[in-house]
Amino acid sequence: MERYRSAAALIAARRPEKPVLALRPHAAGRAARWFAQNFDGDIAYAYKANASVFLIGALYGAGIRHFDVASLPEIEDAATIPDAELHFMHPVKARSAIRRAYELGVRSFALDSEDELNKILEETAGPDGNARDLLLFVRVSVPAINSLIPLEHKFGIAGEPATELLVKTRQAAAELGITFHVGSQTTTPDAYVHALKAVRELIVHAGVVLDRLDVGGGFPSRYANSQPASMDAFMVAIRDGVEELPVREDIRLMCEPGRSLVSEAESLIVRVDARRGRHLYINDGAYGTLFDAAHLGFVYPSRLVSRDVGRDATTAAFELWGPTCDSIDHMPGPFLLPDCIEEGDYIELGNVGAYGRALAGHFNGYGTYEEVILLDEPQMTMYEAEQQSTSSGTVHKLST
Ligand SMILES: Cc1ncc(COP(=O)(O)O)c(C=O)c1O
Repeated sequence: MERYRSAAALIAARRPEKPVLALRPHAAGRAARWFAQNFDGDIAYAYKANASVFLIGALYGAGIRHFDVASLPEIEDAATIPDAELHFMHPVKARSAIRRAYELGVRSFALDSEDELNKILEETAGPDGNARDLLLFVRVSVPAINSLIPLEHKFGIAGEPATELLVKTRQAAAELGITFHVGSQTTTPDAYVHALKAVRELIVHAGVVLDRLDVGGGFPSRYANSQPASMDAFMVAIRDGVEELPVREDIRLMCEPGRSLVSEAESLIVRVDARRGRHLYINDGAYGTLFDAAHLGFVYPSRLVSRDVGRDATTAAFELWGPTCDSIDHMPGPFLLPDCIEEGDYIELGNVGAYGRALAGHFNGYGTYEEVILLDEPQMTMYEAEQQSTSSGTVHKLST
């Protein structure tokens, strides 16, 4: 893969026909190292967020060995990673997927119903009866607070049924865990505070001994319209909440970050194919990498990279339209860009690494990209101090 100092250097060297996915593996490595230093437990990367081998390689280089996987195709991919420990955390699984996952060495499964518990036990049983090596996480439902993508309506169990399920699962599991997800892009730590309170009440009512606790994903990234609390604040909330739990001292913790590990590690570079007032028609969109910008209001940081217009250039707020003929291929933004932008210019949209390429399809024949590696820093970061030390040369590792 070709490497460039920056998106501007790429565009100066050649003007790509297709949209470009520009990877910054060093940013994924930095985020993983931050988690390793600040979270006292297993860090299971949520594979669905971005399965680029360059990013997985950077995460691996930074020590990530646990992976949260949601489907059989993800498991078949991730099972090729040396020493990988996979956690099949989708609470509803096909019987065939459970069976094959177990054959591939997966022992860790999530569930949120007695039916799913029975399915897992039936599909992993051997001639001598139930498997004795299962790590089973009961997924509990917790409120989404300041989260852009709540998940609690689809999955999770609460109240008396959760208590009963915990007791039944304890009887079947070699190790019992509780898992929850506060919703993706959660911008304040209160969600984790409330979730851990709910976990405390459940443990007390069920009277079960927990071996594991998985606080899920949901940790935020920075976007032009989202300035979350610091990552430290999330870790403090989790540490304090866990301390209040009636659990054994040596309970093993896990988290499942997706967005916060890879968001900053990818930019999208697009060309302006037409300008109509404050509307720019670009060569990728809602059916490509920009699904979340069209449907969930994400505003990625944006900059013009095909010309140097100087720092004092007047900026204006633009809406973006994707290349397909569909009118919902529209990213309202607002995206702040120099007012002089015109057809033929290129724009870098930053922090698209989480769920961007993962959601891209091929509608209207689009959805193919060039890929390059960029060596500069992302436009916005949650890991400011680490970025500064990397830039000033005190940290020399580039995990590419
Ligand atoms: C079970 C599970 N774990 C982890 C994640 C990753 O979440 P995030 O990218 O918000 O960290 C998701 C995302 O949907 C999920 O469903």
